[in-house]
Amino acid sequence: MGQRLGVNVDHVATLRQARRAAYPDPVTAAALAEAAGAGQITIHLREDRRHIQDRDLKILRETCQTLLNLEMAATQEMVKIAYEVKPDLVTLVPERREELTTEGGLDVTGQRESLAQAVRHLRDGDITVSLFIDPDLDAVRASHKLGADRIEIHTGRYCEARNAKERTRELMRVVDAARAGSKLGLGVAAGHGLNYDNVQPIARIDEIDELNIGHAIIARAVLVGMDRAVRDMLRLMRGD
Ligand code: PXP
Repeated sequence: MGQRLGVNVDHVATLRQARRAAYPDPVTAAALAEAAGAGQITIHLREDRRHIQDRDLKILRETCQTLLNLEMAATQEMVKIAYEVKPDLVTLVPERREELTTEGGLDVTGQRESLAQAVRHLRDGDITVSLFIDPDLDAVRASHKLGADRIEIHTGRYCEARNAKERTRELMRVVDAARAGSKLGLGVAAGHGLNYDNVQPIARIDEIDELNIGHAIIARAVLVGMDRAVRDMLRLMRGD
């Protein structure tokens, strides 16, 4: 089975919120992404509600035809929302108000108690839980110990590598973390910073069954439409 593409539609909401308008609608964008072959819709409900709003989450829960992946901080507020709305998957991410986007993986050892509690509550609500972590073997092992079902490996450093040597080294860290996660029985996803130029080496890693991609797809969709933007990415992922 091929990798599932999770299309992150946050930046459709970013464009809408820039004018506090009713459009463009991330729900419509999600439907178009699914029609083009996306296997999952990913949204990040941030504490400051800078893009996705609570209403988007609720409507997407009703309209999403594939899987709904909610990225969120491990706070009481968010766990309560997830428990009520019941996305198929919750990906716990670190969140800092001043950041432009999620800058690093979770501090799985430092925040063990709060994460363990969030994982437990969510799993009690029949929600699959993934932890967004750096490609680090200790973080993989700690995620397993915390009772997560899955991990999502942060590919930011691989994507930002400045030369081939650095890129290969970062790619190997992703490969090693993916293998370690898979051996422990964890489902393994990857994401952050992936685009049409750098996705293929990550897509070729057998242990990774899901990629979450936002900015690059939405940026291309603005110019050529969502259907083509998603199909172009799927073609690269499949190595056609
Ligand atoms: N995965 C996670 C956990 C994220 O937080 C993000 C950004 O919201 C993405 C994937 C998508 O990153 P990008 O927009 O760089 O493709």
